[in-house]
Amino acid sequence: MEEKINAYLNELNNFSPSNLEDIEKFRIRFLGKKGIIQDLFAQLIKVDPDKRKRTGALINDLKNKTIQKIEDFKLLFEVKESKSDSEKDLTRSVDFFDFGSQHPLSIVKNRIINIFSYLGFSVAEGPEIEDDWHNFTSLNFPIDHPARDMQDTFFIEKNPDIALRTHTSSVQVRLMENEKPPIRAIMPGRVFRNEAISARAHCIFHQVEGLYVDKNVSFADLKQTLLYFVQEFFGKDTKTRFRPSFFPFTEPSAEMDISCFICGGKGCNICKNSGWVEILGCGMVDPNVLDNCKINSKEYSGFAFGMGIERITMLKYQIKDLRLFFENDLRFLSQFKSIIY
Ligand code: DAH
Repeated sequence: MEEKINAYLNELNNFSPSNLEDIEKFRIRFLGKKGIIQDLFAQLIKVDPDKRKRTGALINDLKNKTIQKIEDFKLLFEVKESKSDSEKDLTRSVDFFDFGSQHPLSIVKNRIINIFSYLGFSVAEGPEIEDDWHNFTSLNFPIDHPARDMQDTFFIEKNPDIALRTHTSSVQVRLMENEKPPIRAIMPGRVFRNEAISARAHCIFHQVEGLYVDKNVSFADLKQTLLYFVQEFFGKDTKTRFRPSFFPFTEPSAEMDISCFICGGKGCNICKNSGWVEILGCGMVDPNVLDNCKINSKEYSGFAFGMGIERITMLKYQIKDLRLFFENDLRFLSQFKSIIY
C-alpha cells in the first residue's frame, strides 16, 4: 500500500500539464468520486490495523498535495489561456467603460460655433505669434497705446515687434486682407497677456472674435445677431443692453450686457445686484481698419465683436475660479460629462 502511495506521489511530482484540460483530467483521475484517492481510502480497511493510522496519514498527505498542485497549475494556466473567440459569450452586456469628458472651454467654444453657423458664419483661425501690424497697427492702435506696453504684451522680438497675440482681433485683419467681402466668420483662439494669475485673470485665455463685412451692414444687424446668440446660449428670455465704449478698431464701439440669467434681472451676487452682466465688446469696423486691409470703406461696412470664452463659461456654469480651467483636476472636469456639443 505504501509503495502504491509513493508511486502516486511520484506521479504527482512529475505532473506537468500543458493546458487547463490536462489539469482537469488529472483532477478527475486523482480527486474524482471514483478517483485514486477515494480508492486508496476504500482500501484502508485491508491494511493491518496497527499500520492503518500511518497509511491514512500518507493518503491524506497525498490528497492535500494533489489539491495544492492542481490549484497552483490552474492559476498559472487561467492567466495564460484567455478564452478563444468561439468561447466568448457575445450576448453578454459590455463592461462599463468610463468615457472622459469634453473640457468646459471646448464645450462652450463648440456651442458658440454651432450657434453662429446657423447664421452663416464660418470659422477662421490665425497664428498665435503675431507681428505688430496684425495685432496693433492695422487695428488703429496709436504707437503709444498702453496695450503695446511690456505690462500687457509678451514680446518675442523687438524692432520689428513680434509678440504673442493679445487678442483674436488680429485674425480679423488676416481674413480681410485675404478675402473679398462678403466676409462672415467667427475666430476662436488662444490669447496671451502679461497678467498676474488669479481667480479672475490668467496670462493665457481664449476669445472668440466675430466679423461681418458686406455692403450696408448696420449696427442694427450687429444688435440682432448678438441678441440671437445670447438667447440661444443663455436662454430665450435673455435681454441685451449696449453701453457706449471705446476700441481703436471700431467706431462706434459698445460693450454689451445681458440681463442676469440667474436672477432674471432682480439682482443677485452674480450680477452684483445690478440685474446685468457684461459679456462682450463690439462695434462697427472702423473705416481705417477696412482701408488698412484694402477693403474700400466707402463701399463696404462691417461689424465686429469679441468675447472671452472663459468669462462666458464661468457665467454659464457658475465657476468661481478661472484657474480651474487649467488645472486638469478630474473632480472638476468630470462634472461636464453629460454636456456634449
Ligand atoms: N479685442 C478686444 C479685447 O481683446 C475685444 C473686442 C472688442 C473685439 C470689440 C472686437 C470688438 O472685435 O469689436 O478686449
